[in-house]
Amino acid sequence: MLRAARMTTSPKNGSPGEIPGAAPDAAKPQPRRVTVPSLGRLKREGQAIAMVTAYDATFARLVDEAGVDVILVGDSLGMVMQGHPHTLEVTLEHMAYHARCVRRAVQRAHLVVDLPFMSYQVSPEQALMSAGRLIQEGGAEAVKLEGGARVVEAARKIVSAGIPVMGHVGLTPQSVHEFGGFRVQARDEGAAERLRQDALALQDAGAYAIVLEGIPAPLARQVSDSLAIPTIGIGAGVGCDGQVLVMQDLLGLDDRFKPRFVKRYAELAAVVRGAFAEFAREVRERRFPADEHSFAGEVRPAPDAAGYGPA
Ligand code: KIV
Repeated sequence: MLRAARMTTSPKNGSPGEIPGAAPDAAKPQPRRVTVPSLGRLKREGQAIAMVTAYDATFARLVDEAGVDVILVGDSLGMVMQGHPHTLEVTLEHMAYHARCVRRAVQRAHLVVDLPFMSYQVSPEQALMSAGRLIQEGGAEAVKLEGGARVVEAARKIVSAGIPVMGHVGLTPQSVHEFGGFRVQARDEGAAERLRQDALALQDAGAYAIVLEGIPAPLARQVSDSLAIPTIGIGAGVGCDGQVLVMQDLLGLDDRFKPRFVKRYAELAAVVRGAFAEFAREVRERRFPADEHSFAGEVRPAPDAAGYGPA
């Protein structure tokens, strides 16, 4: 342990003597972790739940330090990290990799990881194996899957192994081809009733929360009121028990993308682009690095083979 401490500490990564991932220092107040039961409590107490996506350690640490309740390693990483037009090419290995990155940075928030396309649709057994890998390899505390009635048996099987399941109904991005695009769902009464039944079926199967995406606000409020478990909305109005946004949208990191359901809490695209442009200009003008970014001192002569320098 001591050897590990010496090898892994640096002033940059924590205070000297602190071992990343080791048991917390008893003297330091530790943040109270957000858990499956505490999320249920928030709903019962009428307190709204904040959820944000993250895919790497740097941003996950900031989200966690900001006091966001739930971090979702979403398969939206296929779009915002990998640059695809949809989420369908994301694999279980990709999800486990990004979950591990996030896991290392999160101390307080509840960590949920998406089951990607084709990792749970084949059979309940396949779904359980995939969920188990995200728990064991990715450090997830829960998994999320998309769909209602058609994934209920998969959800039940995962829950039976003690793995918490978050459902996701409405505009489920893994069904983008079935929908013919990313379109608001459940606009007619037949579809609305199917969505109500889907949400109830997921709750009956043991889901502890459900994402409601891209559905009319009055329907989302109705579903939220009818369930004992929390709903977390995106493009589903204020009547949900919580809200989620994709980090890149919330931060305004892509200024070409501004759908109605997104609110930008920062305009980082311009800030980040400006910083890169200034760096490039200063490099070309040889204004960076300045003296304060450079190491002074003459280079000493190398020691000879016996380890002695010149007399
Ligand atoms: O993949 C994702 O980021 C999501 C959220 C938008 C709910 O599923």
